[in-house]
Formats: sequence, C-alpha cells, structure tokens
Amino acid sequence: MIRINNLSYTYPDRTLALDGVDLSIEKGEFVALIGKNGCGKTTLVRHLNALLMPTSGSISVFGMDTTDTSNVWNIRQTVGMVFQNPQTQFVGTTLEEDVAFGPENLALPQNEIQERVDRSLREVDLLEYKTYSPKTLSGGQMQRAAIAGILAMEPQCIVLDEVTSMLDPQSRSNVLDTIAQLHQSGKTIIYVTQRIEEILPIADRIISMNNGRIEFVGTPKEYLASVESPIPAVTSLMRKLKAKGFDVNGNVFTVDDALLEITKATQVRDKNKTETSGNG
Ligand SMILES: Nc1ncnc2c1ncn2[C@@H]1O[C@H](COP(=O)(O)OP(=O)(O)OP(=O)(O)O)[C@@H](O)[C@H]1O
Ligand SMILES: [Mg+2]
Repeated sequence: MIRINNLSYTYPDRTLALDGVDLSIEKGEFVALIGKNGCGKTTLVRHLNALLMPTSGSISVFGMDTTDTSNVWNIRQTVGMVFQNPQTQFVGTTLEEDVAFGPENLALPQNEIQERVDRSLREVDLLEYKTYSPKTLSGGQMQRAAIAGILAMEPQCIVLDEVTSMLDPQSRSNVLDTIAQLHQSGKTIIYVTQRIEEILPIADRIISMNNGRIEFVGTPKEYLASVESPIPAVTSLMRKLKAKGFDVNGNVFTVDDALLEITKATQVRDKNKTETSGNG
C-alpha cells in the first residue's frame, strides 16, 4: 500500500531529518514507529500524505506518487493523520459539526454526511456527545473525536503521531482500544509512539528509527529478541528474574504473560523442593 524508496529530507535550515529511508507497508498492517526525540518520525509520516515532499527519493501511496500534485487530494483521502495535540485539530463548534467538516468538503449529500458523522462518532464511542462543544471534552475524548473526524473521510490508512502522549493512563488505554478496533475492522494503522510497552501487544511490526535512518524492522517478538532498550518495565523485570536464575522467558511483554511465566517457574521450583525433601 505504501512504498518508500531511498527517501531523504532536508529542512530549509539544512537539518538532514531523513537519510535514505526504505520501507514498505502492506494493506491492513498495524505498524508502530518508534525512536528517540528528533530521530525523524514526524518528518517521515508527514511525507505519507504529502504534507512534506522528498528532497530525494520517492513515496507512493496505493500507486500514487506523492510528488505529483494532481494526486494530493486522493492521497489525503486515503491516508488520514491525527496529531499529538487534539486541541489544535478542531474546526467545529459542536462535535458533529467538527466531524462533518471533512465529508462536507467532499461535497457529499447531506444524508450521507449525517450517516458518516454518526458512524464515526459511534466507532470512537462518542455518539452521545455529538451536540457537545469539543472544548468540554477530556483529552482522551478529544483525541477520539479527532480520530472520528478522520474516520468520516473513510481513509484506508490512519497515521497517528504520538496521540496518547498528553493523556492520562485511562484515556490512553481508551484511545489504544479504539485504534486496535479500527485495525481489526481492516484499517491500516501507522502509529508513532515513544511508549514501547503500549504497542508491543497490538502492533504487527515495529519500526525503529535513529538519526533519520531506519534501524530495525520486525515483529514485536523479533524486536525484543534483538534489543536491550527501550523495553517495557515488565520485560525488564523478567530479564532480571532470569538473570537471578529463575527459569522464565525474558522476552515477555504483558503482565498476564509474566504472571504465567512466574507461576510456572514457581510451581517447578516447589515441585523440585518437595521431591528433594521427599528423598532426603
Ligand atoms: N520545521 C523544522 N525545521 C527545521 N528542522 C526541523 C523541523 N522540524 C523538525 N526538525 C528537525 O528534524 C529532525 C527530525 O525531527 P522530527 O520532528 O521528525 O523528529 P521526531 O522523531 O518526530 O521527534 P519527536 O519524538 O520529538 O516528535 C530533528 O533534528 C528536528 O530538530
Ligand atoms: Mg514527532
């Protein structure tokens, strides 16, 4: 669906932000893009819907070259973007007005617009708030509302750039649930984050960037098998237990799996103890 070939990008002040990036993203994939501050994540995703144009190299989205200006309209309908700060993304005075903005620009019939608004708000679980002012929503609700605004355009692919970074843990979890559901319904998801623990359980592939380049591409399991950091706290705990001689998997990344591993290891230890004391 998206092909990036040898993409480099230099900002007008001569900062080289992307340096020879090659990447393909398939339809329906959930890809997580990680890496330190300033490594080029935002610069890369802004190329995906022609907000930035390559200094060299090329990107195609469903076969459409992003540098061909006649494709920009189609590309922006195919790839929707949600950003970090939800407050700056609203244009309407009520939630439904806001979500209707995109479809109205597509000059769709009024009943179709209404259908899309309701469907999108339902998908992010905000239908009952449709007459509310966006300003009255919590941060997490605002982010879900911003996602609804993108959904109303019916994009094939949704790019989310650090959308949970300003949210409290509960709102973060609600937004992540929404994104996981969208993925299950067939959308391609490109999710930029600094929080490795939130995406390992849900992403198909992890892409890690460093200094404008891609450093690692692989499944969450491959990621953990090949890196020392950043890793989730629970993985770090399991590695420390393993180092202390516990027979546990040091690449587990959910609390539930960690609990299973520890329970298993403890049962084996207790059994060995019983056998030893029985013998002696
Ligand atoms: N508008 C700009 N003008 C000049 N340089 C920029 C601009 N935006 C970003 N940069 C620089 O380009 C590089 C990549 O920045 P980018 O914002 O893409 O990184 P990022 O991985 O998204 O970082 P963060 O995690 O902080 O969001 C950095 O060195 C940054 O300082
Ligand atoms: Mg960024």
